[in-house]
Amino acid sequence: MKKRIITALRPSNDGHQFVFYGDCCSGIPGKPFEHNFSRVNGALQRLCPQPEFIVFLGDHIMGAYEKDHPLEAQWQHWLKEEMRWLDTDRIPLYHCTSNHDTFDTVSECVWRNQFPGIPRNGPPGQEGLSYWVRRGDLLLVMVDTSYSGLGGPGHVESVWLDATLTAHADARYKIVAGHHPVFPVNGYAERPLWCLMQAEADVFWAVLVRHRVLAYLCSHIIAFDVQDHDDVLQVCSGGAGTNYGPGGFMGEGEYHHYVQASVDPGNFQLQSIDVEGVSRETYSKPIRFPSK
Ligand SMILES: [Fe+2]
Repeated sequence: MKKRIITALRPSNDGHQFVFYGDCCSGIPGKPFEHNFSRVNGALQRLCPQPEFIVFLGDHIMGAYEKDHPLEAQWQHWLKEEMRWLDTDRIPLYHCTSNHDTFDTVSECVWRNQFPGIPRNGPPGQEGLSYWVRRGDLLLVMVDTSYSGLGGPGHVESVWLDATLTAHADARYKIVAGHHPVFPVNGYAERPLWCLMQAEADVFWAVLVRHRVLAYLCSHIIAFDVQDHDDVLQVCSGGAGTNYGPGGFMGEGEYHHYVQASVDPGNFQLQSIDVEGVSRETYSKPIRFPSK
């Protein structure tokens, strides 16, 4: 039986339509998270029309928590088997580093080897980990919130980010993505375990506000959550397949999902789609562009 399509939110002609999701901690054949991730991807394949691009917000693989499975093998299973359905020549997939993926200098090296196509335009030392991509009038900046050179998970730099956003001031839509939330989600407030270190987070968010970034996309917490702080959205999507994290679990009411986004000069719209293909939650925000 043919599965019914899932209707995407559509932007006007001047807009973009994309998907973001993260946190499946998969890469190991036969483990339960692989099944969860497969169901999320099944629902994503039914989205119509398909997105222009996809952002994966980190924790693709279980990483060091599964010591019997080499990182390279986990990555190859994730990329070549679990994501085999996606034609990345047609729909680019942009990747974000994270605590499970890039937790030390060795795993950062493995990451760089697995993703040779990631632009090496990040800050010194973070080449291939943090980077930016320009898609016409949309700027996408991926920040590494686990970089070993800054102290590992829960840290972030803002100088290169500020310079990058300044250099792309002409971009109509600016989106920044990183793995760790800035603001606590579902009560997970411990820093740097669940959120970015406070002092670094304050500087980081001030940069996003100053440059009128549309949204900071993050993951790490198994939830779908939207918060508006100083007119910049923090959108957390950690529903790609992980059932729980250390010291925490999927909160009551949360569910595995991906998020589909539509942005145009009038609105930024989101919907979370669960494994059955049901649009569970929606969010819409009018966009106010600065006067010239
Ligand atoms: Fe994480």
